[in-house]
Amino acid sequence: MRIDVVSIFPDYLAPLDLSLIGKARADGVLDLAVHDLRDFTHDRHRTVDDTPYGGGAGMVMKAQPWAEALDAVLAQSDSGGKPHLVVPGPGGMPFTQAMARRLSDEPWLAFACGRYEGIDERVYEHARDELGLEVSVISLGDYVLNGGEVAVLAMVEAIARLVPGVIGNAASLVEESHEDGLLEYPLYTKPDPWNGRAVPEVLLSGNHAAIATWRHEQRLARTAFRRPDLLPPTVADVDVDVRLATPGDVPELFTLVRACWVQEAQANGILDVPALVEPIEALRASLDSTQTWVARRAGRMVGSVRTHVRGDSGDDLFVGRLCVAPDQQRRGLGRSLLELAESTAPDGIRSYSLITGAQSHDNIRLYKRAGYRLRRGEPEIPGTVELVKRRQT
Ligand code: ADE
Repeated sequence: MRIDVVSIFPDYLAPLDLSLIGKARADGVLDLAVHDLRDFTHDRHRTVDDTPYGGGAGMVMKAQPWAEALDAVLAQSDSGGKPHLVVPGPGGMPFTQAMARRLSDEPWLAFACGRYEGIDERVYEHARDELGLEVSVISLGDYVLNGGEVAVLAMVEAIARLVPGVIGNAASLVEESHEDGLLEYPLYTKPDPWNGRAVPEVLLSGNHAAIATWRHEQRLARTAFRRPDLLPPTVADVDVDVRLATPGDVPELFTLVRACWVQEAQANGILDVPALVEPIEALRASLDSTQTWVARRAGRMVGSVRTHVRGDSGDDLFVGRLCVAPDQQRRGLGRSLLELAESTAPDGIRSYSLITGAQSHDNIRLYKRAGYRLRRGEPEIPGTVELVKRRQT
């Protein structure tokens, strides 16, 4: 595979000389060249940026040095082939293992590292229309870096290690996080025990079937806890799409919660129920401290639930804000959302608990049918009841 990288900080890419990628370069498996964008400027200051048309903060990378740099990259082609141009940027498509795999099949990749606010849009148009390149804008994640160089280091490593010959033991590529949509199982090596901690017994059993089962269960549990967005929603209702809530869902979720808890207020004769008085800012902040799912039917938000781990020993999963839009109730969605919430409990959770109004008889019936029991004693919040369910092991 051939890789060209254009940057105003070529030294930033020096780590590509190290480790397995460096070895692949030395072995001739990877042909990697880094170019300095400033070599394609023609003024004394080697200027690569200018102020944005239309105003605004920051500077924009000029089209001309980029066009010349791309011409220089293309001029190296001996076979008439063209590179797939990758421009890292926070506004791009998310970089995934599947994307790394697709890009690892390309014979030639060129990376254009933007800096400042970004590159003049006409560079992308020129690359596509005049140079005939496939252009992909790709983001490393939902955060902003100072430039594309760090993203290129990450992408080149993820892509190049999939190129045949770069990693000696190809089998090690198969059992990895993300290769089949699940995260990796926990790993242990000698000694056992270490520091008073034992290795899980099944791994010492020599029973390969039992080990495979254990590892698969660990992968599912880990994925459910750390990356529930990777798991298919378990809600049985095929018309309903369930996803982890994003900040963009907050206004609709706020409205849904208010609508649902009016029923609660009516049933219990109190208006200052936490869900009814929670400010929208607190709801937005709760997306960071809980796992919140929203359910949509035909695009409309019709239900939600959220969980967080609590208890002195962190062994209780609290299920909160379980709600279904008033006109969508009695169709099994509440029960499905409750099951979904329970199914994402991490290792170490021994019980699920929730709170509802003491007079919310429909809710209490639903929870009892799902295996919850009323907790004895005085509730923490007057006028409510607490329900708890032991986790089946
Ligand atoms: N450049 C700046 N931020 C970036 C990001 N999140 N991903 C890729 N390139 C970037």
